[in-house]
Amino acid sequence: MSNLKFNPDKYEIKTCELDGQKITYRAYEEIEYCENPVDEVQKLNIFVPEEFYEKDEVNGYTLKTVPIFMPNSVGGYMAGPASEPGKNFLGIINAEFEALKHGYVVACAGIRGRNSGMATKEFFVGGNADSNSTGSDKLVGRAPALIVDMKAAIRYLRHNKDVIPGDVEKIITSGTSAGGALSALTGATGNCEDYEPFLKDIGAADERDDIFAANCYCPIHNLDNADTAYEWLFNKEHVAHMMKFENEDGHVKMVPIETEMTDVEIKVSDELKAMFPQYLNSLNLKDDNGNELTLDDDGNGSFKDYVLSFVAKSAEKELKDHESLTRHPALCVKGSEVEKQDCLTVEDGKVTAVDFDKFVKAITRMKNAPAFDALNLHSPENEEFGTEEVFAKHFTKYSTDHSAAAGEMADAQLIKMLNPTKYVGCEGTTKHWRIRHGAFDRDTSLAIPVILATMLKNKGYDVDFFLPWGLPHSGDYDLQELFAWIDNLAK
Ligand code: DHB
Repeated sequence: MSNLKFNPDKYEIKTCELDGQKITYRAYEEIEYCENPVDEVQKLNIFVPEEFYEKDEVNGYTLKTVPIFMPNSVGGYMAGPASEPGKNFLGIINAEFEALKHGYVVACAGIRGRNSGMATKEFFVGGNADSNSTGSDKLVGRAPALIVDMKAAIRYLRHNKDVIPGDVEKIITSGTSAGGALSALTGATGNCEDYEPFLKDIGAADERDDIFAANCYCPIHNLDNADTAYEWLFNKEHVAHMMKFENEDGHVKMVPIETEMTDVEIKVSDELKAMFPQYLNSLNLKDDNGNELTLDDDGNGSFKDYVLSFVAKSAEKELKDHESLTRHPALCVKGSEVEKQDCLTVEDGKVTAVDFDKFVKAITRMKNAPAFDALNLHSPENEEFGTEEVFAKHFTKYSTDHSAAAGEMADAQLIKMLNPTKYVGCEGTTKHWRIRHGAFDRDTSLAIPVILATMLKNKGYDVDFFLPWGLPHSGDYDLQELFAWIDNLAK
């Protein structure tokens, strides 16, 4: 049992040299951030640029004013161990390294996941190759464990605010995919009482857990509405083009799988698609001019045009600067070159129309219906909503009613506690949001990040939202812009 006191003298000075770039930093590692951890993964690493101990100011910050950047390594709702500066699975220098080089304090919390307590070879883009290690023989990482752990780590930092390097009122979370969802959830649910009993259970410090800003790359969130949103977009596409990642001792293999949907699955798609307008209309969203965003029973209407307007903006920028193609040639989806798209009508460099069906055909369907709450309970999200005793559960009424595995539905409160959109507008919701979702990302419907961004804007939050052209499901591709955004807010 730890006393949750940070020891400022317990560090190692480390250097990391990658691709000819070198950083030197103090590494405070494997800190227990809660008093009653249930899994080995619940550890915190804090890294501080050594320069702060040589000069009064680095990049305009002192050791008391410098933001604390909190990237997580959660992918696929799997455990995300406390990470360190290095390279990601694509061999690209990671956010931890870049943030230290930029001069931030970096705090990496180890987070439980659906695989905590079992061995697996699964891998997801938000994660790192260590995600398969586990310190428990029980499934102790199911919902709401991930957000509970993140909050506990944030509370640990606040609990030690006088001795912790960095400004605990300038914590910025960041993550990709399920990790992006975790960042969004952290941003939305600051200090919310719902999580209190779970935080007590693991012995988290009795402190606030709101943050300064949330950065979210392609957040796979709003899971209870993600199936209907997916079929609203992909209903006419009947082949699923899946890419499975497999982790062989830290080496990530990609396995493409194509499936033709059956008539039964197409019917499921039709039924889910038909349910989306009612949900969307219930949100009472508005565009920047205050116009209502709605859909008719067929899924047409102002919300559809609005989603396409973000695609148009994205394409227009790419037509001007070709930034995706020139900066991320390896990451861009094959065939995504903006000039090649027959879904775009371009006049004088302006995108005047985007054809919905042609756009969807170009980005392709990835998942079969239902995309998230699988009828056979075989999705990552089904496991996320499982418990220590029940391996996997449903989290929508539709899939519970149509279950092919006699699955039970997760507790309604737990489903809510994993959905950031249910908490936007709480007292502790962070003011500052940055959301990026590749225009060619098909892991969730484009409607999902658009809904989050719009809901936040409508409630008066500061939102920087963009769909970078040609990019698939991925993150950390624009770290310098992210850091500029943070500096602009924090300085
Ligand atoms: C992730 C991707 C998915 O398609 C999904 O359903 C959940 C998580 C991920 O990359 O983290």
